[in-house]
Amino acid sequence: MTDTNQTAGQSFSAWMAAVQATIEQALSSFLPADACAPEELHQAMRYAALDGGKRVRPLLTFAAGALFAAEQEQLQRAAAAVEMIHAYSLVHDDMPCMDDDALRRGKPTVHVQFGQATALLAGDALQAQAFLVLSEGGGDAACKLAMVRLLAQASGSLGMCGGQAIDLASVGLRLTRGQLEQMHRLKTGALLRAAVLLGALAGKLLTAAEEQALDRYAAAVGLAFQVVDDILDATADSATLGKTAGKDAADNKPTYVSILGLETSADLAEQLRRDAHAALLPFGDKAQRLRELADLIVQRKA
Ligand code: IPE
Ligand code: IPE
Ligand code: MG
Ligand code: MG
Ligand code: MG
Repeated sequence: MTDTNQTAGQSFSAWMAAVQATIEQALSSFLPADACAPEELHQAMRYAALDGGKRVRPLLTFAAGALFAAEQEQLQRAAAAVEMIHAYSLVHDDMPCMDDDALRRGKPTVHVQFGQATALLAGDALQAQAFLVLSEGGGDAACKLAMVRLLAQASGSLGMCGGQAIDLASVGLRLTRGQLEQMHRLKTGALLRAAVLLGALAGKLLTAAEEQALDRYAAAVGLAFQVVDDILDATADSATLGKTAGKDAADNKPTYVSILGLETSADLAEQLRRDAHAALLPFGDKAQRLRELADLIVQRKA
């Protein structure tokens, strides 16, 4: 397998492709096979998690792992776990009781393909599988415990689920900028922060200074990611995004675009990119991939 920790001499795109191939293989091996009973549930889980997505969270995990020379197996487990939580959040986000979307990653959404009950269970089971994968394998026990706690906090009512609850309760409301930022930090930022810190923790327990610097980086890229998601929803087309464009305005959701307008939202994303770079100064060259990912998150077109 390609050494995804290697940074010197490899282009960013080659490194990205190597991590994406690694995470695809890791997810596939950490999920029960299609033919394993109950077949339809496992097919839905694999449909949701495999063969699609930008894999931004695993990329962040591997990039942060390079800071402290984390072992490949630990990184693969951490990256697969955070991507499984993300995949589950998308399955539920798309259901009729939430955003009611029919297209995801260029394919019919899980509930369209498999029905609502199976989609609900596939999301539930992906979440459980994430913690199983993270808790198994070797590695330092104290680091493992810290990783499990971190992912649980990021996923729960004070993290992603809490953000999704605020999102649903905000339809048709005009939020203040502060309220919007809080919603985005929870629904998207929390899991991106976990992706970064999990990668670092796969290497070692962090000092307070290291955690603070990575937190600042993760807060910036986490918020930037959702600001750009809001911009793309308003400006890109469905074929490019692989999901239905223009959905936020159609559903009357408060977004950065609806509150600040396109230009100020783009300025904010750029300011967050610079903030992310500044946060990485203490890590020097080892943070090269994290810097490149901050650029990608802000400059992406899909
Ligand atoms: C979409 O996430 C949902 C948000 C949190 C904005 P991504 O844009 O990372 O979706 P995939 O994984 O690439 O499909
Ligand atoms: C989804 O936010 C965030 C989570 C799934 C936690 P969005 O509803 O904006 O994501 P998209 O635009 O459907 O991908
Ligand atoms: Mg949503
Ligand atoms: Mg949605
Ligand atoms: Mg969106």
